[in-house]
Parts: sequence; C-alpha cells; structure tokens
Amino acid sequence: MIKVFSFIASMAGEKSGTVRYSDDLAAVLRKTAEAAGEEISYERMTGNQLRVDYCLSCLNCFKKGICPLDSRDDMPILKKKLLESDILFIGSPVYMGEMSGLMKSVLDRLSYWAHRYELAGKPAAIFTTTDASFGQEVADRLADRLEFSGLVPVHMGHAKRGMGLPNLYLASDMQPIYEEAAQKLLQALASPTDFLGESAELKFKGRKRLADRGLKLSGLTGIPTWEEYLVLERRGILQAETYADYLRDASRGKRGE
Ligand SMILES: Cc1cc2nc3c(=O)[nH]c(=O)nc-3n(C[C@H](O)[C@H](O)[C@H](O)COP(=O)(O)O)c2cc1C
Repeated sequence: MIKVFSFIASMAGEKSGTVRYSDDLAAVLRKTAEAAGEEISYERMTGNQLRVDYCLSCLNCFKKGICPLDSRDDMPILKKKLLESDILFIGSPVYMGEMSGLMKSVLDRLSYWAHRYELAGKPAAIFTTTDASFGQEVADRLADRLEFSGLVPVHMGHAKRGMGLPNLYLASDMQPIYEEAAQKLLQALASPTDFLGESAELKFKGRKRLADRGLKLSGLTGIPTWEEYLVLERRGILQAETYADYLRDASRGKRGE
C-alpha cells in the first residue's frame, strides 16, 4: 500500500480549487498505480482543519529539535502525516503573487527540517491554483524550498481558475499533466535518486564539506555544531559522499539491510 498524504494550505476546505487539483491528481495516480498492481491510500488535510501558530523565532527547533508551539497547536499532527507518507502532495493557493500565509507559516515551522533532511527521498507533487497569474512561479519556488529538507519534487504544476469564477479550469486540459505527474511519482518512489534536483546535491555537498572540516555549521544563527553533528552522524550523512549515496544508505537502513 502506497500512502499518499496531501496538505492543501487553503482555508476554503471542500470548496477549494487547490483541493480539486489534489483530488483529481490522486484519482489519476490511483489508476496508474493500480495498472501497475499497486494500491494507493489517499488522505488530505486542508488549512481549516488545523491550527498552525506563527513561528516565535526562538530557534529552539534548530537547537534542540523541539518546538514549544507543538504542545499547543496542530503542527505535530501535520508533521506526523508528512513523515509517515510515501508520497506527498503539497498545494497552495496563490495570494498576492506568493504562497498562502498558512503555507508560509507551515514552512517556517518546518525550517529546521532543512538541517535534518527529514523528508529525504520522499517524492512529491507541488502545485498551486490562481485566478490568473504567478501559479507556476509560486509552485517552483515552493518546491525549491521544500527540497531543502530533502524532498524530491517531481511535479511542479498550477491551474488557473479564471477571474472570480470557481473551478473554471477544465479537467480534460489537466489530464495529460496529471498522467505525467503520476508516472513520475511512481518512478521516483522506486528510485528517488533518479530525480534529485541540483540544489539538494549542492546543499548536501556544502554541508558535508563543513562537517568534514569540523567547522561550525550555522554559527551565525546560534545552532550548536555538536547537536547538528549528532543528527548528521545518526543519519549516516557524514559517511555519504553525495546526497544520492545518502538516500541509498537511508533506504537500505529502512529496509534493514
Ligand atoms: C487574498 C487573495 C489573494 C489572491 N491573489 C491572487 C494573485 O495574486 N494572483 C492570482 O492569479 N490570483 C489570486 N487570488 C485568487 C486565488 O489564487 C485563486 O482563487 C485560488 O484558486 C484560490 O485557491 P483555493 O480555492 O484553493 O483557496 C487571490 C485570492 C485571495 C483570496
């Protein structure tokens, strides 16, 4: 069973156009997987189902891996779903040419995952909906930021709804786009290293160079070197020469080899 989790950063719930993108893509992914003899479970959450508070800028997550807000809002629920899934859908409406404020708040709260590669090797579809403009730009930027946490975005897409008129984009126009995305998601699940973006590899190499020299990883932001070292060591990052190696090691570890 392949677990797909979708987080849609819209408060519009079932009326959200971004939810429609997610559900339509999930339907095509299910069909594609079933044709290959695989089953899909699909779960989605929208902004209105969660309370997500603003980051306090305390840096505790970077230092200790613990966020004080986690005990009072719903981020732990979201984190658990993100970590437990095999494939992620991350969708946001475009507001004022950017991702929604909620999406940004979620990214802020997950910033420390960029230091820990929490999402390493997880294939993802990243998408936005707009009335008219900035859709692809925002999807690409969102994918780039999530890649910092090791995520493997293989589909960056957008749909235009048309000015003020809900659900105007045509499902038939989107069909080939969803089909290509579904193929890529399944391929990436089998072999994430075939889909690694440049920035993931570059970021990995930079981090490793610093770690190899015993330099402070993030001295300016007050992140203690030794704590990061422990995380890196535990995750086998210090032994791996490339991000691709790391992913292979990590998936070997997961399979108990
Ligand atoms: C506050 C706000 C700002 C928006 N800004 C833009 C924009 O800059 N460009 C655009 O094309 N559409 C913009 N829209 C339209 C939404 O992006 C569009 O309707 C989107 O599909 C809504 O997604 P949802 O139904 O999933 O919430 C904006 C809508 C709102 C509510």
